Amino acid sequence: MTGLAIIGGTGLTSLKNLEIERREVMHTPYGEPSGPLVHGTMCGRPVVFLPRHGTAHTIPPHEVNYRANLWALQNIGITKVIAVAAVGGITAAMKPSALAIPDQIIDYTWSRQHTFFQGDLTKVTHVDFTNPYSEELRAILLQAGRAAGLDLHDGGTYGATQGPRLETAAEITRMERDGCDIVGMTGMPEAALARELELSYAACAVVANWAAGRGVGEISMDDIDRNLKVGMDRLRSLLEQVIPMID
Ligand code: HPA
Repeated sequence: MTGLAIIGGTGLTSLKNLEIERREVMHTPYGEPSGPLVHGTMCGRPVVFLPRHGTAHTIPPHEVNYRANLWALQNIGITKVIAVAAVGGITAAMKPSALAIPDQIIDYTWSRQHTFFQGDLTKVTHVDFTNPYSEELRAILLQAGRAAGLDLHDGGTYGATQGPRLETAAEITRMERDGCDIVGMTGMPEAALARELELSYAACAVVANWAAGRGVGEISMDDIDRNLKVGMDRLRSLLEQVIPMID
């Protein structure tokens, strides 16, 4: 039993420094998680890793079984989740390869299985989601970032889009007007489901590209891969620093 899980996104399908002990295949009332839960130790601490898009990165954002992933993690005793997500940068500070610990979300996704509270309910439940991320976990991530000498942005609004296509320039202009700083496809319903399960959940966003219309020309997968490589190396230093700081 361990308390901390890391959900890896695009660019992070495995954790290099995780000494793997076993892989656990889970079946949940909501279907199959993205892959086996990878149990191991990192920096001497127990950690569970789950690649959101599957071990071979084959599950697109709109087909991730977010409910099964979070239910499986909670079911094995996870209480804290650090979610890693590749995003596009909308506002000036969110440059390619930058790292941010967002503090707000706007949800533009649709038709995803987004709640555990449906079906045969004994009462209707509305969870508080004023602050969608755990402030405690965010604070630890920011402290770890400072200790590792990393330039981490404190805060920012994550706009969650449906994908899998990228956005139009006009959609990004609208999202900026709405107050979004970064755009990604996996932030929701993951954060809301974590809250429904009372998991402590925070995200670390790695900027892969300028969002549509914010850079020069079209968005190329080569640029995304190059920026993510730099950003994910910095993310690994952050994880090495943060894991020993989490109880
Ligand atoms: N938009 C949405 N999701 C993303 C992007 C983007 O520009 N880059 C990485 N994930």
